[in-house]
Formats: sequence, C-alpha cells, structure tokens
Amino acid sequence: MTGEPDDVDAMVEPVVPSRHRWLAGLLAAAPGDRVADLGCGTGGSLAQAAPSVAGGLLAGLDLSAAALARTAEAVGEAVAGLAPRPGLLWVQADLKAPLPLADGAFDRVLCHNVLEVLPDPDALVAEAIRVLRPGGRLVLAHSDFDTLIFASEDLELTRRLVRDYCDTQQPWMDAVDGTIGRRLADIAGRAGLVVEDVQAAVVLGRRFLPGEIGWGYARNLADTLSGDGRADPAELDRWLAGLQRLDDRGAFLFSVNDYAVICGRMPR
Ligand SMILES: C[S@@+](CC[C@H](N)C(=O)[O-])C[C@H]1O[C@@H](n2cnc3c(N)ncnc32)[C@H](O)[C@@H]1O
Repeated sequence: MTGEPDDVDAMVEPVVPSRHRWLAGLLAAAPGDRVADLGCGTGGSLAQAAPSVAGGLLAGLDLSAAALARTAEAVGEAVAGLAPRPGLLWVQADLKAPLPLADGAFDRVLCHNVLEVLPDPDALVAEAIRVLRPGGRLVLAHSDFDTLIFASEDLELTRRLVRDYCDTQQPWMDAVDGTIGRRLADIAGRAGLVVEDVQAAVVLGRRFLPGEIGWGYARNLADTLSGDGRADPAELDRWLAGLQRLDDRGAFLFSVNDYAVICGRMPR
C-alpha cells in the first residue's frame, strides 16, 4: 500500500450477492467448519458462507480497518439467529507478510480479487496452504480484467480504456496483474495444490447507478486513468456521460468474468 486514504469504495467492488453466493458455494463449508477469507473486503463472501457454518468460525483478514468494519456489520447481520452462533474473527493484517494464523487452523480458505495486487502472489498462496488443514479446501478466485465489458457509444474508446485500466496499478495496490484470473490454475499447480475443479462465472450489471457493479467499475476506471494521466479527463467525462445515456434508455450493460480454482490440500 502507498499510504493512500482507507477508501473502501476505491478498493472493493460493490457487492453483487449472486457473485458471493457462487464463491461461498464453491467453498462448500459445513456446520462447525472454520472459514477464512484472505482480503475479505466488505465481507460479501463471508456473509454468504455464514448460514452454512453454524457453530464454526468465520475469519476475515484485510489491511483496511474500514473494510473490516463493513465486514463485521455484514457478517453480524448474516449470523443473527444462527444457532449455534459461529465465532467471528476480524484481523487487520498485511497479506504480504506471513499470516498471523496457526498452521492447519482452517477447513476452508477463500481468496478473491486480491492476488493481482500483491508483488508475490505465490507467497500468499503458500501461506494459505499453511493455515489450511490437510484435506481442507482452498478456493482461489479472481476477475480477469481484460474481460470487462461496457455497452457504450464508443467501442474503440471503451476497448482502449479497459485495456489501460487492466494494466494500471492503483494507489492502494502494491502491484498489478489484471489478467491473473486466467492463470490461477497454474499458480495453484506450482504451489503443489491438487486442482479439483476450475470454474468461471459472469458478473452482470444492467444499471449505471451508484452502488451498482457497473457504476463502481466505470467510476474506478475513470478515477484511475485520470489520476495516472493515462486518459484525458474530458474524454473520460464524455465516456461516462455516454454510459448514463445508455442507462437512461435501458441499454446499459456491464459484465466481467470471474475464474475460480477449487483446490485440495493433500492429507499428510
Ligand atoms: C478488490 S478487493 C476484494 C475484496 C473481497 N475479497 C471481495 O471479493 O469483495 C481487494 C481487497 O484486498 C485488500 N488488500 C489489498 N492489499 C492488501 C494487503 N497487502 N494486505 C491485506 N489486504 C489487502 C483491500 O483492502 C481490499 O479489501
């Protein structure tokens, strides 16, 4: 991180429940399981996993205190009424360093949309394996940002903006690797994990409104590329106004592909 303000909305995508349901489903956690989300953001995935883990443990790790506060709120709501109530653990931690978690402490570990911002993603995967119990499950998931789709009035401009956005390191990132989604199976394989399945899901948004996924990505793209000097602010304003016009006539569409590898840790 570069000392930028703890701006959660710049770092974490708006929550799309179906996306996090998909990720939680891949974890396949059961009552009593201990689940960790590495780089949990605002807790979208842990909130979806919560109903499965009565009596277990939900742990969210993130560098951002503001994101962890939102996770605590979202997961708190999701576990209300669950019996027995799972334990909750929120840890402010830098995922570039060894995880402050014991060996084999978790049955299920998730990491979604974090690896691309780390200078050494393999080191975090090694740590994820260390904290997973033998026979446990690790889900590595990532968007591939070359697959960002915006319906727009200017196809060539949109293509150029998306390509530049995919490759631009934002102030809160320690690195950038926007196409890491397509290489997750390779990363898991070289870490010695057993890759049990590889899946893809399309995250779709039909509205260009605050709080919507397409709005979040378009605004982040514009802020990123103007902040980095890679696009002309007037051109970005024109592009955003065009997205708004499409929304006004019901023609806005956004999507991005998410990829997930479902991995097992070999029993010792
Ligand atoms: C794109 S968000 C993804 C959040 C969440 N996994 C999700 O799917 O919604 C990336 C998250 O990684 C966190 N992050 C980035 N670099 C980090 C680091 N070095 N250590 C810990 N967390 C980090 C950010 O604070 C942010 O919450």
